[in-house]
Amino acid sequence: AGDDTFAARLLAWFDVSGRHDLPWQHPRSPYRVWLSEIMLQQTQVKTAAPYFERFVARLPDLPALAAAEQDTVLGLWSGLGYYARARNLHAAAKLCVERHGGELPRDLDALTALPGIGRSTAAAILSQAWGDRHAILDGNVKRVLARYHGIDGFPGLPAVEKRLWALAESHLPPARMTDYTQAQMDLGATVCTRADPACILCPLQNDCVARVHGRTAELPVPKPG
Ligand code: ADE
Ligand code: SF4
Repeated sequence: AGDDTFAARLLAWFDVSGRHDLPWQHPRSPYRVWLSEIMLQQTQVKTAAPYFERFVARLPDLPALAAAEQDTVLGLWSGLGYYARARNLHAAAKLCVERHGGELPRDLDALTALPGIGRSTAAAILSQAWGDRHAILDGNVKRVLARYHGIDGFPGLPAVEKRLWALAESHLPPARMTDYTQAQMDLGATVCTRADPACILCPLQNDCVARVHGRTAELPVPKPG
């Protein structure tokens, strides 16, 4: 893996242009990373940030969350929407007290066994909280990979999704997993945007299939029907 790999170029871009001052990055802890990932599942960074600050000010760690009343948790979530996220978060914290000594487990299968945590969220938690080497595949990453590799096929189809997971794993860097995970999210959110990607600012522009073939507007393929 040289300086010209997908991951190396993305990391070099992240150092200069990525987001380095998000609230859950300072300080970073498994609990704070987890909470941020649940909030960011359906909410933009800018909206989530003040809710995150208020939430951790009131419930600063996992045992505090587990011990809280449900009304307290829902009150802190009020305005963010998708309230199943808050109920799952609360239930997961209680399960961590029962099963994992009051800590988030450092294990992909144990994490995905908790309510509200799918494979990509579990991977995002492990990579950002501990630097563990796991691929993520959220909506942003699907879009970047579908364009970069010129994947023809709706990314929601199981066969296409399987291919995207394999590609995501093929790009993992040997180190710097915390930054790499954030870098992918930042590129998707700020450069490789859905409507009008800023390919001229992209560290992947030289060999991006969608860019080279003028197909950024067609990829990723929309949901059929
Ligand atoms: N979406 C999910 N996780 C994120 C993160 N850490 N930063 C920005 N957007 C995200
Ligand atoms: Fe996305 Fe353009 Fe970068 Fe390709 S070159 S990954 S389409 S921003």
